[in-house]
Amino acid sequence: MPFLRNSWYGAGWADDIDAPQRRVICGKPIVLYRDGTARINALLDICPHRAASLSMGRVSNGNIMCPYHGLEFDRSGTCVANPHVEGPPGGLKVRQFAVAERYGAIWVWMGDPAASDEALLPNFPILDDPSLTVQRGHTVIAANYQLVIDNLLDLSHGEYLHAGTLGTPGAARSMKANARSTDRGVAVDRMIFNNKPNPLFAKVWTKSQRVDQQSNIEWVAPSTILLDIFATVAGGARSEGINFPQLHLVVPETETTTNYYFAIGRDFAVGDPSMSAVVMDTARKAFEEEDRPIIEACQVNIDMLPSEAVLRNFTIGDGASKRARSMLQRMLANE
Ligand code: FES
Ligand SMILES: [Fe+2]
Repeated sequence: MPFLRNSWYGAGWADDIDAPQRRVICGKPIVLYRDGTARINALLDICPHRAASLSMGRVSNGNIMCPYHGLEFDRSGTCVANPHVEGPPGGLKVRQFAVAERYGAIWVWMGDPAASDEALLPNFPILDDPSLTVQRGHTVIAANYQLVIDNLLDLSHGEYLHAGTLGTPGAARSMKANARSTDRGVAVDRMIFNNKPNPLFAKVWTKSQRVDQQSNIEWVAPSTILLDIFATVAGGARSEGINFPQLHLVVPETETTTNYYFAIGRDFAVGDPSMSAVVMDTARKAFEEEDRPIIEACQVNIDMLPSEAVLRNFTIGDGASKRARSMLQRMLANE
């Protein structure tokens, strides 16, 4: 499937960007950098002279300088210095992309910048709540981004794949789930009532033996996942419990590689470094050592024998994935 162009894609965490860095998004190389004003800028990472990567260069006086022969480009991508020609540098220009910063993430609009609209950024203000601790991570998955979105929309894999980290034994048979359409996506709400806390919750939860756990996950087209996870005393109110709001950016790099950025907030043990270590260790184990290899294995099988590697839908999450794919098809057709 081709990539949707006129849309915001997460391009990583804002704190990680200062000096020029390359990101490949939807098969296009982008250089991200701050131009000295703290504002972030995004240009195509291809110098119009001999196709060098501008991301290997540096910023000087707000302009990005190509490391190969020293051409300089301003914020708009216009060449403003070319030491190899007499007089003005001529009409060389690098394509500029619209860029935004929100929820600690950088977002790049991969289509026409004139069509970009910050009102279309995914809406997840809870991550900006100063009373939360938010931790951010990243991994690369050698699979198409839709397989990663399938994984997230169908959290029924938790009990099996994440038995030692995030899964709840017996959840597949006892949970209640429903899928619903949202403004620009699909959501799945899963509730597991009156069960033991999952292994991560068990490390942090002391109020009761039995808990109600809920995960509300929303895919916002094309590549953002908003996740609200909480646990509370069995039969208790949400306000008695703990909350893990999460933002997952599932960003297609190429057809077969995905940048997976995750931000995990929590409203308990705020600022406690030992709790941060527990949460991040668990997230890394779950996403990098459990999700990543199985998703990559699915991709290998799909590539090797597509006629046999057929994706069948029978969980609520599968149904949501199917809806997400047809929604994306419709958006692509409109584009
Ligand atoms: S390739 Fe960039 S200046 Fe020559
Ligand atoms: Fe998972």
